[in-house]
Order: sequence, then C-alpha cells, then structure tokens
Amino acid sequence: MSGKNLQVVLANRPAGWVKESDFRLVEGPIPTPGEGQVLVKNRFLSLDPYMRGRMSAARSYAKPVEIGEVMTGQAVCEVVKSRASLLKPGDKVLAPSGWQEYAVLPSTEVERVDPQGMPLSYFLGVLGMPGQTAYCALLGVGQPKPGETVLISAAAGAVGQLAGQIAKLKGCRVIGTAGAPDKVAFVRDTLGFDAAFNYRGKDADALGAELAALAPKGVDVFFDNVGGPLHDAAMVNLALHGRVIIVGSISIYDRLETPDTGIRWNRQLLVKRARMEGFLVWDWRHQTRLFRDEVSAWLRAGKIHYKEDIVDGIRAAPKAFIGLLRGVNRGKMLVRVSEASA
Ligand SMILES: NC(=O)c1ccc[n+]([C@@H]2O[C@H](COP(=O)([O-])OP(=O)(O)OC[C@H]3O[C@@H](n4cnc5c(N)ncnc54)[C@H](OP(=O)(O)O)[C@@H]3O)[C@@H](O)[C@H]2O)c1
Repeated sequence: MSGKNLQVVLANRPAGWVKESDFRLVEGPIPTPGEGQVLVKNRFLSLDPYMRGRMSAARSYAKPVEIGEVMTGQAVCEVVKSRASLLKPGDKVLAPSGWQEYAVLPSTEVERVDPQGMPLSYFLGVLGMPGQTAYCALLGVGQPKPGETVLISAAAGAVGQLAGQIAKLKGCRVIGTAGAPDKVAFVRDTLGFDAAFNYRGKDADALGAELAALAPKGVDVFFDNVGGPLHDAAMVNLALHGRVIIVGSISIYDRLETPDTGIRWNRQLLVKRARMEGFLVWDWRHQTRLFRDEVSAWLRAGKIHYKEDIVDGIRAAPKAFIGLLRGVNRGKMLVRVSEASA
C-alpha cells in the first residue's frame, strides 16, 4: 500500500513538565502485515495520564517507551488489510496501535468491537479503559453502600465523571473536586454530584476544612485520582472503616523520578480502621464484559452523562496530551485520527 504514515515518537525523556519538544513528528511508509497480522488505520486515539509514566525511565508497572519509538496508546481502528483468519477489512477493533495513523499488529493483540449502536469513541472512554477503571475501582475496591459519602478527585475527567455517577446510582452522597469553575459546575449541575469544589490555589489545611464542611460525618470512600494535598485533606476527613482507592497520582506526574514523600497516615488508618488499596485496571480484565454490559445499559437508559474532548489529526496529540496533564481538557481526551471509510 502506498502512502505515508504520520507518527509521533518520543524525542526526549521529560525533565519536569512535558514539553512539545519532547515529541517529534516523523513520516514513515505504511507498513505491510505479515502472516497472522493485520494493518489497521487509527480512527480515534486515546490520550491518558499514564502515558506520562511511559515517557519516564522510572520503575513502574510497564516498560517505558524508548527514545525514537512511537508513543504508546490505545485506539479504535479499522482493519485495512488482514492476514489473520478471524479478521477482515472493515472490522472495527481496539488495538494498542500508538500515536500514528497506521499500525501493523498481531491479530492476537487486537480486540474486535461490536459497537451495538454506541459511538466507536466510547470504547476508549466510558466503555473502555477509563470507564472500567471507574466501575471496578469503585465497586470492586471501594464497595460503597447506600447513604455513604464518596469523594472523587479529578471528578470532571474521564474516570472521575463515571465513578461519581455510579456512586450516585448506588445511593451514595457524592462530592467531587475539579480545577476550574466550569468543571465544578459541570460536576454538580450536569453530572448530578451532591457537591463539588475547586481545589486550585488551596493548601491541604484549607482543602481539609472545605471538605469537613461538606462531609461532616467523614468520607467513607475516597476515590483518589490525584494524590498530593487533596489526598492529605481527604485522609484527615476519613470516616470509621473508610476505604481509600489509590487510582492515580497525577499531581506528581511532573516529578515521577523522585520519591513521593510526605505525611505518613499509618496512625489515621489505624484509628479509623481504614483500608487503602492500590488499583490497576489490567488486574480486572475478568470483569470487562460485566462492566461493558452494565454501563451500556445505563447509557441506553439515559442514566449516565458522558463528555468527550476531541482534537483533530495526529499532529495535535502532543499539545492535547500536555493540556490533559494540566487540566485543559473538558472530558475524556481523544484524537480523531481519521474519518470512517466510505
Ligand atoms: N490505576 C489505573 O488502572 C488507572 C486507569 C486509568 C486512569 N488512572 C488514573 O486516573 C486519573 C484520572 O485519569 P483520567 O484519564 O480520568 O484523566 P482526566 O481526569 O480526564 O484528566 C486528568 C485531570 O487531572 C487533573 N489534574 C491535573 N493536575 C492535577 C493536580 N495537580 N491536582 C489535581 N488534579 C489534577 C486535571 O483536572 P482538573 O482541571 O480538575 O485539575 C486533568 O483534567 C489519573 O491519575 C490516571 O493516571 C488510573
């Protein structure tokens, strides 16, 4: 197949905040699939905070992207050529195809998508990895009960918006935090959280006081997407037998290479007989079908509101990703890489 494949590769390991110069745009040929492989064309690429970790050589749960390598990422794609018996041109698939227009992958690495009337992009968000994070972390680890108070940080984002709405569906009182007035209004007025507040410009003491006023009986389930001062504020306000789900720590993603030291909460965990547990979505693959069926049903019934933030073209990915780390995004961050084939 003739034509070019525009790709975004890692140019440098970032020092502190990610910069556009940490990426480089390159043009390669469109690759040819070998036996058992497929050539896919990316339709939508997902931009996710975890990608900051892959840019760093710091020890993590996955290996880093090498300098000069195409940035890692999941996309919904269309099969263009297939040398695998179970896939044919035109099939829609989820694939780890990265920040580029085309990719060749073994058929074993792609998952066929049956949209059943849902937009394809949803399989990277509310029906994809972020959605499953919200569903499995909240219900599997947090185990909220009706009447309990649930706190969600980064509540306007891909994970937070669904986690809070599920907690509401389960009969909880839900508080969200976000970093801009319009996001706070979105969380409260559109998503239906009981309360929300802006964390920006406030230290842990001020955040703790604001939270105490909103949750006088304490926080039963803390869905922590960000770490940092908000984490400390929530820990001070933990209810008896509280559950803290460590889902993300985006507040320190600009300094992943140094240890995250600070206050130790051992005594608070003991006094409150609380539980803190780290969560990784890939450990919950056995629940993918359950999650998709239930969240799809809620979407169809109009019980879940979902917001996306879409930019166009692979060239836009670096700037959009930097914006995601800084809170510029309004909803699930995606790149529309190409239009559907006729
Ligand atoms: N463990 C897992 O398996 C798993 C899976 C998926 C995602 N995650 C984690 O979940 C979190 C949310 O991911 P997402 O995809 O839903 O992203 P997102 O919330 O759509 O976007 C990231 C948001 O983080 C907020 N943020 C940035 N810097 C912050 C800071 N210093 N303090 C507080 N908030 C800050 C910004 O919102 P504001 O404008 O509100 O600040 C930004 O919009 C991330 O930490 C991510 O790594 C974990």
